[in-house]
Amino acid sequence: MRISTVSIKDLNEIFKLESNTFKKDAFSKTSILNLILKNTFFFKLINDDNSNEIVGFIIVIQDQEYRVNLINLLISKQYKNKGYGSHLLKHTLNKIKEMNNIEVIVLNVNSKNKVAISLYQKFGFRIVQKIESYYRQKKSAYLMILKI
Ligand SMILES: CC(C)(COP(=O)(O)OP(=O)(O)OC[C@H]1O[C@@H](n2cnc3c(N)ncnc32)[C@H](O)[C@@H]1OP(=O)(O)O)[C@@H](O)C(=O)NCCC(=O)NCCS
Repeated sequence: MRISTVSIKDLNEIFKLESNTFKKDAFSKTSILNLILKNTFFFKLINDDNSNEIVGFIIVIQDQEYRVNLINLLISKQYKNKGYGSHLLKHTLNKIKEMNNIEVIVLNVNSKNKVAISLYQKFGFRIVQKIESYYRQKKSAYLMILKI
């Protein structure tokens, strides 16, 4: 597996992964395009067998002078629970730390998403707030933060 930066050529494959995973809560194709055009980090994890399939991706944007927002992290269904999510997150946290001016990383996660929450907690993120009706169908989110 190797990690590289997402480009416009990846739009359709990324959107397919996003919509297969998040269904009605998925980002639109236009939103993904905008995130490809304007992001702080948008990495993909690629299967470096002959397929070059995108196994997962992570999106980070800087939304304040001293803060980045982890917008999304996704690993394709058949590759889950093999350590790839941790690998991609660890790589990205190291890149964020190299930015020097960043003091805090924030993210929102569905409060029922136990796997993602425990992954983030493993890297030191903590839940600071529950936000009711954050997603469609009134699903709630946790705001999690990591001070670096
Ligand atoms: C969340 C997600 C990215 C994790 O990726 P992954 O590659 O499966 O995760 P890893 O194999 O690196 O596991 C990381 C940690 O997640 C937790 N975890 C993974 N699978 C789990 C399971 N079935 N049950 C409970 N915890 C689990 C564990 O804490 C694990 O750490 P450990 O193996 O050291 O105990 C992946 O499940 C996914 O894409 N989910 C759908 C999209 C999503 O919900 N993204 C979060 C958006 S905020």
